[in-house]
Amino acid sequence: MTNRQFQIAVFAGDGVGPEIMNEALKVLSVVSDKYHIDVRWTQGLIGGSAYDACGTPLPEESLRLALESDAVLLGAVGGPKWESLDYSVRPERALLGLREKLGLFANLRPVVVFDELIDASPLKKEVVQGIDIMIVRELTGDIYFGRPRGVSLDAQNRRIGVNTMIYTEEEIRRIAVRAFELARTRKKKLMSVDKANVLETTELWREVVTQTGGDYPDVELGHMYVDNCAMQLVRNPSQFDVIVTTNLFGDILSDEAAMITGSIGMLPSASLGSGRGLYEPIHGSAPDIAGKDIANPLAMILSAAMMLRHSLNVPGAAAAVEKAVAGVLKEDGLRTADIQSAGGRPAGTREMGDAVARKLQSLKE
Ligand code: IPM
Ligand code: MG
Repeated sequence: MTNRQFQIAVFAGDGVGPEIMNEALKVLSVVSDKYHIDVRWTQGLIGGSAYDACGTPLPEESLRLALESDAVLLGAVGGPKWESLDYSVRPERALLGLREKLGLFANLRPVVVFDELIDASPLKKEVVQGIDIMIVRELTGDIYFGRPRGVSLDAQNRRIGVNTMIYTEEEIRRIAVRAFELARTRKKKLMSVDKANVLETTELWREVVTQTGGDYPDVELGHMYVDNCAMQLVRNPSQFDVIVTTNLFGDILSDEAAMITGSIGMLPSASLGSGRGLYEPIHGSAPDIAGKDIANPLAMILSAAMMLRHSLNVPGAAAAVEKAVAGVLKEDGLRTADIQSAGGRPAGTREMGDAVARKLQSLKE
């Protein structure tokens, strides 16, 4: 069989990034052997560590590497060390820069509860059992990128801060189309989340999403205000299948939804546009636990699985990685510190990654 060849840009980043990335790469090596796909990767610098080495969080070389690759795998960026830097060179700017430059307007954040981890959730068992939600967050518009922005002085010499919430009709339509298409492959239920009772930008959002829905009569479309959605996510999350929302609301709701699953250390994401995708866990760099071999590598490993599905087009391999993760939680009962309240055997970052790699190796093709 001829091997399909893929070139991946790997940015481990800061904090726990390098540790969890190591585990994902272990798993990718097994995938490569087992599924006869030639996955090669090149590591690049991003975030605070890039700033330390080159004076910028997103060096030209890293951007070029990303643009020349089939997909980008990213760990995490940021940390207290770089918090006092000027806004323009903060590690987070690298992430926003990559999203913008690669045109990654659709961010998929699956919120799935593994049966074995139900007790790690702060919510009641009956509320979280079987939860499987897909949050589709718009990623290149809104107040994250809108202008004017910044802090300046007004006529009375008072400092004022300004950010601009802005969406064009086209930006709303293209993310709505992605969400409707995705809903079609699932339970055909889409909830659009806005604040149309107060913000005109999201009144337009609601109008355009509704209009787009005309092309998807088979998908049941609902609308919800973001404050209500925040409440419904903990009250009765099982009412949701696919949620589509703006950049800022999606950022906030996805952290909230992560806790349904027990730990933010479990949630992967895919950022897609019309070309290459970027895959990263939704959690941050967790500097407080960096270098201690205690971070949960599963969100990173599951992000690699999303890459196999969406960019490398090997859904069988993606499903196998997900199955291996479920197997390690269920059969081996391994638990990193963040999910220890679910009972089981304590494991470090490396031990968890090794176990997933071994499980994957032992699965029948
Ligand atoms: C996320 C993160 C980022 C965001 C930060 C690190 C810039 O919170 O991916 O959710 O706000 O988008
Ligand atoms: Mg966030």
